[in-house]
Parts: sequence; C-alpha cells; structure tokens
Amino acid sequence: MVEKDIEEIIDRKLSIRKDEERIKDKDLFEVVEEVFDRRTVLAVIELCRRKCLKRLKGVVSAGKEARVYWAKGPNNEDLAVKIYLTVTAEFRKSIWKYIKGDPRYEWIGKLPRHKLMVVWCRKEFSNLKRLYKAGVKVPKPVCWYQNILVMEFVGREGVRAPLLKELYEAGSLTEDFAEKLFWKIVDQIKRMYWRAGLVHADLSEYNIMVWNDEPYIIDVSQAVRLDHPNAQGFLYRDIYNIVRFFREDVGLDIPSPDEIYKDVVEGEEGREYE
Ligand SMILES: Nc1ncnc2c1ncn2[C@@H]1O[C@H](COP(=O)(O)OP(=O)(O)O)[C@@H](O)[C@H]1O
Ligand SMILES: [Mg+2]
Repeated sequence: MVEKDIEEIIDRKLSIRKDEERIKDKDLFEVVEEVFDRRTVLAVIELCRRKCLKRLKGVVSAGKEARVYWAKGPNNEDLAVKIYLTVTAEFRKSIWKYIKGDPRYEWIGKLPRHKLMVVWCRKEFSNLKRLYKAGVKVPKPVCWYQNILVMEFVGREGVRAPLLKELYEAGSLTEDFAEKLFWKIVDQIKRMYWRAGLVHADLSEYNIMVWNDEPYIIDVSQAVRLDHPNAQGFLYRDIYNIVRFFREDVGLDIPSPDEIYKDVVEGEEGREYE
C-alpha cells in the first residue's frame, strides 16, 4: 500500500505536469516539481511497493547533484533517502579521476545522464554495503532503486546529526573531544583500508557526521578499491585533509599527514585489520 502523502505528492505532481500555470503551493513546487522528474516519482512509488519506504518527509540537504530527504520506513523508523537528480558537466568531469583506470567502472564515463546517475547510485550503495559489513561507521544501507538510495538516518526525528565542520563552527569541539574524534577517524580510515579494501577518496570535515560522539563516514559513491591506480594518492589526500582540519582549524597538536599515512598503511595498529 502506498502511503497517503506519497499518493498526494504524486497526484499533485501529475496535476502540476498537466497545467504548470496552476502551481500554487510553493513548498510542493520546491520539493516535487523542481526536483522530481517522472522517473524519480515512479522510482519512489516502486520503493514504497517494495516496502522499503513508507513516507517521504522533508529535505535534509539540497546539493547540486543529489538531495537527501528524511523519510519513514514501514516500521516508522527514520530513514535517509539520497536521490540523485542530475548529472552536470562538472560532475561528469569530476568523477573521471575516480573511474579512470578502474576496470569495473571506466565504461560509465560515456553513459547518458540518467544511466550514469543510476550506476553512480548503485556504486554508492555497494560501497556502503562493503563498508558497513567491514564494521566501518557508515549509515546502514537499506535498499536502492534507480537513482534512489535508502539508508539509516543519522540523527533523530528528522534532525540530522551535525557535520564535523558544523560542530567546529558551533564551537562544540573541545580539545579533548576533538582529539578523541581525530583518532577515531584515523581508526575508521584504517578499517576502510584493511577490512573493506576501500579508500574514501573525498574525505574531509564535510563528509563526516558526528552522532553519539562517533564519527560517521558518509558520501561514499566515489570510494575506490585498493587496486585503483591512484588509491594511494587518494588515501594520502584524505589523510592530508583530515590532519589539516584538525591541525590548522581546530588547532590540535597531532602527527603530520606523512606520519599518519605511514601509520595507516604499515603501522602496527594497521596490521590488526588485515
Ligand atoms: N544517512 C544520513 N542521515 C542524515 N543526514 C544525511 C545522511 N547522509 C547524508 N546526510 C546529509 O546530507 C548531506 C549531503 O549528503 P552527501 O552524501 O554528502 O551528498 P553530497 O554528494 O550532496 O555531498 C550531508 O552533508 C548530510 O548533511
Ligand atoms: Mg558530501
């Protein structure tokens, strides 16, 4: 059974399509018309039919290529729904460095927009699954269909957890807490590397959420396997970004990127993840 408000959204959406002049509801226009094309609306319905989703609530984040929504699952649990909406020329360019040289994905560079979005969404889901299985703190993957990925909601009652960056800006990072978080993040990088065989490749204070004092790694679509020709370069850059943030912004006295890199790839602690 498709929930009432989803049905209502679809009805409204279809009527908007029929007569664009009649759009009155600004909020609905934002959530539905501007964002959802027909394919996406149908994909939402399909996810409801599969009992993966029950109700789509508010927007949590509106990025250029994807939007994240707060949603409810069949047991009324909170979910996060990431919907890939469009492939910009910039996006196509930016993903090339991650897929080039990766035999699993190089072919997708030439795909038309919609298909590329679907493959990218599937890639994020499979990376998320691999990381979750390896015990990395990521939102638990639930299901995916077409350009829509459904996962655990990090936060409570529709209020998402803060990003590491936001926590810092709000002045909530005491030195002691920051240092604990830093080492927990290094530990997550090691787990990704040793247990999941993946490098995040876009890690920074913008792709880490902090919930119950734990760092949650998000936005994993571009993560690469260790056999990617530039896996080590991406790993170094991830580490560099994190060390730079904690050293220069937060002001912690922590080891250099080179030392952390060494610790991750060959340090004794690293070995325990083999
Ligand atoms: N599982 C989640 N639970 C709650 N909020 C999330 C979740 N995943 C992402 N978000 C929110 O959505 C934003 C965008 O998600 P992200 O995966 O980083 O996509 P983008 O490609 O737009 O950067 C995040 O910064 C975060 O605020
Ligand atoms: Mg992001």
